[in-house]
Amino acid sequence: MQDKLQFFINHTEFTERPTAPLKPFSYEELIKALNFHRSIPGYAPTPLYNLPALSEKLGVKSICLKDESQRFVLKAFKVLGGAYAMARHIAEKLDKDISELPFDVMTSDEVRKILKEVTFATTTDGNHGRGVAWMARQLKQKSVVYMPKGSSPERLTAIRNEGATAEIVDMNYDDAVRMTAEQAEKHGWIVVQDTAWEGYEKIPLWIMQGYGSLMLESLEQLHQVPPTHVFVQAGVGSFAGMAQGMLTAAYGENRPKVIVAEALIADCLYRSALSKKGDAIAVGGDLQTVMAGLACGEANSIGWDLLRDYANGFASCPDFVATHGMRILGNPLAGDPRIVSGESGAVTTGLLSILIQSPAMAETRQQLGLNQDSRILVISTEGDTDPQRYLDIVWDGEIPSFKKY
Ligand SMILES: Cc1ncc(COP(=O)(O)O)c(C=O)c1O
Repeated sequence: MQDKLQFFINHTEFTERPTAPLKPFSYEELIKALNFHRSIPGYAPTPLYNLPALSEKLGVKSICLKDESQRFVLKAFKVLGGAYAMARHIAEKLDKDISELPFDVMTSDEVRKILKEVTFATTTDGNHGRGVAWMARQLKQKSVVYMPKGSSPERLTAIRNEGATAEIVDMNYDDAVRMTAEQAEKHGWIVVQDTAWEGYEKIPLWIMQGYGSLMLESLEQLHQVPPTHVFVQAGVGSFAGMAQGMLTAAYGENRPKVIVAEALIADCLYRSALSKKGDAIAVGGDLQTVMAGLACGEANSIGWDLLRDYANGFASCPDFVATHGMRILGNPLAGDPRIVSGESGAVTTGLLSILIQSPAMAETRQQLGLNQDSRILVISTEGDTDPQRYLDIVWDGEIPSFKKY
């Protein structure tokens, strides 16, 4: 396996003739999700940290980091999507507008009585399934969660602790998604999957809109002054696609440049962009990477269309990019805050650091316009969602052997 960071600058014809719809990512749509999230007890915007010492060290104007380790008690942004999609599903069943169903009404016994028993099903590397299980428990409903081969037992326990029936299955993420859909069909479960495919788009779109709260909060924290560059990570590309859609809908031609970081072993978006054909290309196999959240080899069709048409660059990142980012954030330069960022969360910071500091990246850096005037927004999408693995990496410099986990 080639163990080198690869980068693709997106200058294809698609960026000149975009076709991906932006309306679902307009402020009017995304604010509905944020208003629902605001009604959840314990809701608070996650912090946006300014990192002046790191920006000075890297020679850019500013670096701000959105820290999703503090999202409710779940340590990752993912619950924003699952919870909102489940809420929208229920609103639709009750023939009501989501604005009429704030969280306390949504989770009330009255609503449960009308709905009767519902089982929500999903496949997850950890974070999404935990969010679905958490929301199902609030709704006093059931959840079934499957995790792909190689998933962390700690993350499985965290999902079971939220009340889900959960297991690790002997197949990769994308095959587990297909199996979940089959099981759901058989048992009458509602699939809450964080990726779209032909014929399954409504729930994934709601999930993407739910993630939008993170971007609306960030812009508010930046006093509506958009950054020049935004670094996002991607598994199937639902989150990155949302960020791209939201920024494009809001700022048009003046939007920030979006840079997408993927795990090398599951770099379906990078490969799809590189092919310049416009169609998404799938990556198969075991997809073992330290970035568990990014170990998905088949793109979300809605997310891919947005990224193909509007993103500025795609990075295929070996594991060392993520572990580099974890150490930078966990061992801050004097004056910067300490941030606990897990494997999938930290890859964007690792990528930024390498793009700026590596002589091999000079041309890419220049093409992206990364320089002393850059105002950068980096998203850290998770904290230590597997605390032991976090320590093994940060204390011992150990890139996990997947046999051990
Ligand atoms: C922590 C974390 N970051 C990023 C992602 C990537 O999101 P997406 O699959 O929408 O690309 C995930 C997905 O599970 C995740 O758990």
